[in-house]
Amino acid sequence: VQRFDLVIPRSARRVCRVRVGRGALDRFVEETIADPPGRLLVLVSDDTVAPLHAEPLRRRLVERGLAVELLTFPAGEPRKTRETKSALEDGLVRVGAGRDSAIVAVGGGVTGDLAGFVAATWHRGIPVVQLPTSLLAMVDAALGGKTAVNLRQGKNLVGAFHQPLALYADVETLETLPDEELGEGLAELVKAAVIADAGLFRWLETDVETLLARRTDALEHAVGRALRIKQRVVSRDERESGRRAVLNFGHTVAHALESVADYQLRHGRAVAVGMCVEARLAVRVTGFPRRNVERIERLLGRCGLATEVPAGISVEALLGATARDKKARSGRVRYALPRAMGRMPVGDEVTVEVPEEAVRDALGLD
Ligand SMILES: NC(=O)c1ccc[n+]([C@@H]2O[C@H](COP(=O)([O-])OP(=O)(O)OC[C@H]3O[C@@H](n4cnc5c(N)ncnc54)[C@H](O)[C@@H]3O)[C@@H](O)[C@H]2O)c1
Repeated sequence: VQRFDLVIPRSARRVCRVRVGRGALDRFVEETIADPPGRLLVLVSDDTVAPLHAEPLRRRLVERGLAVELLTFPAGEPRKTRETKSALEDGLVRVGAGRDSAIVAVGGGVTGDLAGFVAATWHRGIPVVQLPTSLLAMVDAALGGKTAVNLRQGKNLVGAFHQPLALYADVETLETLPDEELGEGLAELVKAAVIADAGLFRWLETDVETLLARRTDALEHAVGRALRIKQRVVSRDERESGRRAVLNFGHTVAHALESVADYQLRHGRAVAVGMCVEARLAVRVTGFPRRNVERIERLLGRCGLATEVPAGISVEALLGATARDKKARSGRVRYALPRAMGRMPVGDEVTVEVPEEAVRDALGLD
């Protein structure tokens, strides 16, 4: 099990302990027994992951004498809502959770975001421990303290920053993850490599099939490296006032695609296409070598991810949707573009404004 800390100098909860690898859940059990984060532990999980991972964990903890409850909600992004948050809060009342309790999120990014947000506001904030079980949650969602729910008007519109006390990513839980969900995580893993780790990118080019085959050692290696990248970025800029925006490579186009496709296109798949489009943009804007665009396309293709904008998506609708991006400033769309493999622009000003012409070219749709 790899061990390191995410330290955020000015955050209320300064240190998040990170444990990655097979056996990380055993670590969680042992460390929790040695130093329980609360009098009562409330596991939160969706109804797919609960019987696979959360319920067995609950039994283990209860056998070791801890007070543990399990609250579940129906799986899926459409349930990441205020209604589900309220239902979980009613559950907390029912099980008698006070301010000396702690929440443990067991599941994918939806569970982590929901449980994290519940923890952020329950009695004005109680500790949360993240136990991610999807590749996406391991490489991205569970670390960094962003929590939120969706409104009909948009994703993640209501939320809070609430750093987890600890994160345990046990790659053995990925054995039960459906193939399609593995692809979602691979897209974000490729993104991490492109923005910050050329060595990881080369490793993926050689070894990505070992991830697709879910070899534990390969998963351990990749998740560990991705988490260290996110740790470095977040420790410098928790609230995304500058540098954290490097994580948005591929995401301006991805968010636009998701919204134009009415969220019928999954996020990871949209990010894969978004990275290809934005890499082409980068060739023109930052001098990103064209050869790297081809490398990204080939790697994503091997992961089973599409690299072109799906047929039937209109350029105008897409351009319109980019203008509503969170990074837009006074109506001008901004992009986080790499300069070289593993390298983003230096300093805190990492996004650039790009002429619409260039975006049209990169979309290659007309
Ligand atoms: N907070 C952040 O910084 C951050 C970053 C990226 C994404 N996110 C959020 O993460 C969410 C997406 O995460 P996700 O893709 O993990 O979604 P998810 O939590 O819905 O998980 C995807 C599906 O896989 C199932 N699943 C998860 N782990 C499993 C396992 N081990 N075995 C079997 N099935 C399993 C879930 O039940 C679900 O059906 C989005 O809501 C997104 O906004 C948050």
